[in-house]
Amino acid sequence: MTPTLPIALDCDPGVDDALALLLACAAPGLDLRLVTTVSGNAPASVCAANARRLLDLAGQAEVSVLAGEDRAVPDAVVHGEDGLLGLDLPPPSRPAERADAATVLARFAGTVIALGPLTTIAAALARGARWQRLVVMGGAIGAGNTASGAEYNFSVDPAAAAAVLAAGLRPTLVPLDLAREALATPAVIDILARACPIGRRIAPMLAAYAEQDRLHHGLPGAMVADLHAVAILDRPDLYATRPARLAVDETGRCREDPAAPILDLVVEVKAHSLFAHFAQRLGQLCQA
Ligand code: RIB
Ligand code: CA
Repeated sequence: MTPTLPIALDCDPGVDDALALLLACAAPGLDLRLVTTVSGNAPASVCAANARRLLDLAGQAEVSVLAGEDRAVPDAVVHGEDGLLGLDLPPPSRPAERADAATVLARFAGTVIALGPLTTIAAALARGARWQRLVVMGGAIGAGNTASGAEYNFSVDPAAAAAVLAAGLRPTLVPLDLAREALATPAVIDILARACPIGRRIAPMLAAYAEQDRLHHGLPGAMVADLHAVAILDRPDLYATRPARLAVDETGRCREDPAAPILDLVVEVKAHSLFAHFAQRLGQLCQA
């Protein structure tokens, strides 16, 4: 029996968060213990309902989902009013849970994967969190994806991003630059759609997300940044990292700073193998 890694996901589903959540449910070496949400692609309570709907789809409705604080979010353009670009899923099978997300996340001792703005992550650290490992999707060394040039997650809460990177946790950081190296093109989406019923179900959402990235960034596919933050734990052999020291400014933009604490920046992905692997994992989820 392969040892399983206890993980918690802090996310804002969100189209690419949805892919990451499905992979976290499918990977046999990952033991998803907790999902918390943060206001980003949609208000945290909407993201929590989306997380419950996705866990129902994955057959893991027992995983606890706690909503972070509802905050005003930028106009819901990229991920749609519902946060999932109209993904055809039934309402959640269970009601919202009431416990405080940051407090419960602070008590978790395993690996935390942050897929949204770092508001809840920073709040958990302020409550004394001591995690085994932190993986963060956020920031950009090159071009960002917001008007200011920053990456979205870091732009929504720059102070939280700066605090988390300055905390000396040596996080693994998946920047937006990596997502540009592994776009979910129509050919990739077709592979996922052919993998199994779940792949078929999410394909239209992913195609709509790819259309957003074509319109806003002139890209031939979708930047599914969050997927890599889970995939690097499932298949570390598909990724390469380098040590880096990054500081975050008041707009959320990153710059290399020799005075900043060290982190592990993800700089390379075997894109073709990653998507073939994800399709295989979706197939396993459908068989489960
Ligand atoms: O910039 C990419 C990040 O912002 C991802 O987490 C995606 O979900 C979007 O919200
Ligand atoms: Ca996200």
